[in-house]
Amino acid sequence: MPNFFALIPAAGSGSRMGNELPKQYLTLAGKPMIYHAFRRLCGSLRLSAVFVVLAPGDDEWLQHDWSEFSTKLVVLECGGATRAESVLNGLRAAVKASSIGDDDWVLVHDAARPCLSENQLDRLMDELANDEVGGLLAVPVADTLKRSGADGRVERTEPREKLWQAQTPQMFRYKLLVEALSMAGGTVMTDDAAAIEALGLHPKLVLSDSRNLKVTYPQDLALAELILSNS
Ligand code: CTP
Ligand code: MG
Repeated sequence: MPNFFALIPAAGSGSRMGNELPKQYLTLAGKPMIYHAFRRLCGSLRLSAVFVVLAPGDDEWLQHDWSEFSTKLVVLECGGATRAESVLNGLRAAVKASSIGDDDWVLVHDAARPCLSENQLDRLMDELANDEVGGLLAVPVADTLKRSGADGRVERTEPREKLWQAQTPQMFRYKLLVEALSMAGGTVMTDDAAAIEALGLHPKLVLSDSRNLKVTYPQDLALAELILSNS
């Protein structure tokens, strides 16, 4: 039976948040934001280890006590210039730090998604455990979609049928994911599934909901706190 691992890319700077401190360290419900992802993933008995990918020379990491996660958490200081690079560097370093098989599953999860529920995590693993390709948590688009033209005016309305918003975790087999991200090269890819799709494969969409939001802008912080306090 393949094992399950998690990898959390946390080498971003949070430029859209506009805070000097990278957003994964901003205080959320009394803890650094990334703490909440650790709590969920390290707390899952189904995951063998959780890798976190930091930016080289990340001083802020050392300002916090992470000892409660020490049995599961493996720190890798090999973040890159893009998310895809951070994930690929992390996957290559993880296999040196721990025994991961080619067919083992890796769940890649953003440090900036602190509200992942136990149900969402379990549903992803249950629905994909026997899948050929792997997949991701996602939500059908609810709003009406407009494409903009000149001067911020509507060019046309886009049908939202069959459109989904991609979330994380995204779960793929170790070897396939390394291959896919290596092939991606310089192409801009904002998630792992896009690299798999570029190989001509079709990741499975696993139904999630909007509570697993990504904290991107300052106004997302209060919403994330509210969700955490209700879960
Ligand atoms: N990430 C990373 N390495 C990078 C860029 C991003 O590990 N070079 C991580 C972030 O730390 C985050 C996740 O990828 O956990 C999702 O990225 P995003 O939400 O875009 O975070 P940032 O890139 O930090 O934010 P921004 O795009 O606003 O600068
Ligand atoms: Mg980014």
